[in-house]
Amino acid sequence: MILVVDFGSQYTHLIARRIRSLGVYSRVVSPNIFDESFADVCGIVLSGGPMSVYNSSSPKVSRDALESVQVPVLGVCYGHQLIAYLFGGKVTRSRVGEFGKSIMYLKDRHALFDGVPNESVVWMSHRDVVEEPPPGFIVLGYTDNTSVAAMANDGRRIYTVQFHPEVVHTEYGIKVLENFVFKLCGCKADWNPMKSVNEFIGKYSGVEGSALVAVSGGVDSTVTAVILKRVFGERVYPVFIDTGLLRSREREWVENLFGRLGFNNLIVVDESDRFIDSLKGVIDPEEKRRIISRLYIEVLKRVASELPDVRYLGQGTLYPDRVESGSTSRYSDRIKLHHNIISEESLGLKILEPLRDLYKDEVRELAKLLDLPDEVITRHPFPGPGLAIRIVGEVTREKLELLRRVDLIVDEELRKNNLYGSLWQFFPVLLSIKSVGVRGDQRHYGYIVALRGVESLDAMTASFAKLDWGFLERLASRILNEVDGVSRVLYDVSNKPPATIEFE
Ligand code: XMP
Repeated sequence: MILVVDFGSQYTHLIARRIRSLGVYSRVVSPNIFDESFADVCGIVLSGGPMSVYNSSSPKVSRDALESVQVPVLGVCYGHQLIAYLFGGKVTRSRVGEFGKSIMYLKDRHALFDGVPNESVVWMSHRDVVEEPPPGFIVLGYTDNTSVAAMANDGRRIYTVQFHPEVVHTEYGIKVLENFVFKLCGCKADWNPMKSVNEFIGKYSGVEGSALVAVSGGVDSTVTAVILKRVFGERVYPVFIDTGLLRSREREWVENLFGRLGFNNLIVVDESDRFIDSLKGVIDPEEKRRIISRLYIEVLKRVASELPDVRYLGQGTLYPDRVESGSTSRYSDRIKLHHNIISEESLGLKILEPLRDLYKDEVRELAKLLDLPDEVITRHPFPGPGLAIRIVGEVTREKLELLRRVDLIVDEELRKNNLYGSLWQFFPVLLSIKSVGVRGDQRHYGYIVALRGVESLDAMTASFAKLDWGFLERLASRILNEVDGVSRVLYDVSNKPPATIEFE
């Protein structure tokens, strides 16, 4: 595998994902990994990061550590600067910085750039620059703003690039990673997501007791249930909790889906009144998440106690879920409390997370291999706390009803216009403020609905979907005409970062 050492860049995981897409397993680890052993590691990537190497609190690894590893190292962005700094090069703060596309000119041919033309587009995002390479390093490429855009020390097997090879805007980025992984590290392409699932099944087959899996009808929890069925057979119980915060007809969808998947022991629990009542008067998003999470655990505990010998809880936690809850990196801030990451202590069950190291697109690939229906594979993500975090402000039955009606129209129009499959998510959000409109010469005072559509690869970054005005206009008129109580429709043009995908 290739280790990606995380110095806090928003793109760190993209590096790991790209390497995995080449068939080589890759993990994101914190800088203190150098204290551990390197069995199975064929190369190391030092990621980008927001800090400056001169900042005393910026994350670092030591020169000794880098010198002692027996495998090739690739420094990217901050990783490039850190290597220059540690080995005696000159790193300075540039006045202008370099953000976005640049042309890189290659100086010397090198295996790292096999198949890359002498001039190519690279994606830059940095203010500090390496002005002089350290002794023993040769400069491989430069841009108009950066005299050392790539360098190498073949003796030490250390290579560095100032640009981001992992982002799609770098024309030959994947080629550079491919060269590093295969030509310089000599890794073999023998990994795919199914391999990690088979390892999981192998590890747990033969265990005693039964397992619960909380299912929503989304791709992550459905794949988790299907995998656990391979381990536990009839001793796995999918549980669907109706929180009252779901979209229309979710329960029917899940009942139908699990029937088709050969589960005859789906447990459906209707707790909608309890969830909705407990959110009365609550407007703080984290408080909403906490309340929902607490109740969810309570209900799961009760269900577990009513079934024979339940010892495990299966969860569809993905790699990015763990990142955003701040558990895989010391340098990524905690952004939101993800309600569906439940701790073992809170539940008294052992947690099984067969997807914990996978990215969403890998789970979708798995779902295909496991023969899940297309509607599940392509389903847009829906957050665990549901519509509670798509109603900004207090959640009430009236607002939930209104939002569900808008949501149905949105879903219908997206599919009718063949847009569903091309977007990561597209959903309406109900704001708790009202605005004035006019209907049939009469004043109308109703809620404001915001539409949020994003394109994304893994939800860690996202850009707002630039949709056709005609489509948005038709959609907005349908909402305004068909849902009494909505007086205005807005379109969200914020990217993530700095915004997040969900409003709360
Ligand atoms: P944000 O809003 O953090 O969302 O940009 C990133 C992705 O995660 C989904 N999301 C959640 N999913 N439980 C989930 O299962 C949650 O608590 C949760 N909050 C956000 C969101 O829909 C988007 O795809």
